[in-house]
Amino acid sequence: MTAEIDKCTLPVIAIDGPSGSGKGTLSSLLAQRLGWNLLDSGALYRIVALMAARAGLIFNQDSTMEEALAIAKLTASLSIRFLGQKVFVNSLEVTDEIRREDVSIGASIVATFSPVRKEILGLQRAMQDSPGLIADGRDMGTVVFPNAELKVFLDASAKARADRRYKQLKNKGLDVKLPDLLASIKERDERDRGRSESPLIPADDAVVIDSTGLTVEQVLEQVCLEGKSRGLF
Ligand code: DC
Repeated sequence: MTAEIDKCTLPVIAIDGPSGSGKGTLSSLLAQRLGWNLLDSGALYRIVALMAARAGLIFNQDSTMEEALAIAKLTASLSIRFLGQKVFVNSLEVTDEIRREDVSIGASIVATFSPVRKEILGLQRAMQDSPGLIADGRDMGTVVFPNAELKVFLDASAKARADRRYKQLKNKGLDVKLPDLLASIKERDERDRGRSESPLIPADDAVVIDSTGLTVEQVLEQVCLEGKSRGLF
């Protein structure tokens, strides 16, 4: 007889913060270093926005509850798989598409719909697996994993975040403009922080780190020290 693993006892490190704060890079480095599973919850909202647009579903900031419910229904029907760095939906790879700027904006809109958040909640909790989970998002420490052993809220100024994104996209050979990126980051921040459902705020017991003047390695060391001091690894 194999013993059932009680998922609730598996450790979780919640990493929350705004777009471009470096939490994605931090989370994947931490997952690699510890050999833990990684949940990129933003990818789930991105997938929903991409698939809703593909299905011709209409959504915007002023969407009705009916429109939000239609997107939640679509969310429930999706079969999502993460294989290493790759993301698949209904067996189709969408790894690059979900990173497009229009999808980023769509994701921040569908993320304001409470029926969609409810659907995604179950998907996120199902990712909790042995030996532990690094959960990257906006509401990991406040809503999805309120009992996480370590909660980090990673912040950085909007300007520093836009600069980082600009460099990333330029390195990929994309033609982007810094003022446009800064405006887009500020617009998404406003939506993420101002929404009534799971707004982007640090959990009361989160360790808040401002990464503006820090390298990713410095942030990683700080988080590892916090984890060690809690006896997590
Ligand atoms: O982290 P990201 O940029 O990939 O996230 C895309 C959008 O999804 C972002 O605008 C906010 C939303 N999101 C959210 O509301 N809750 C999460 N846990 C993760 C992302």
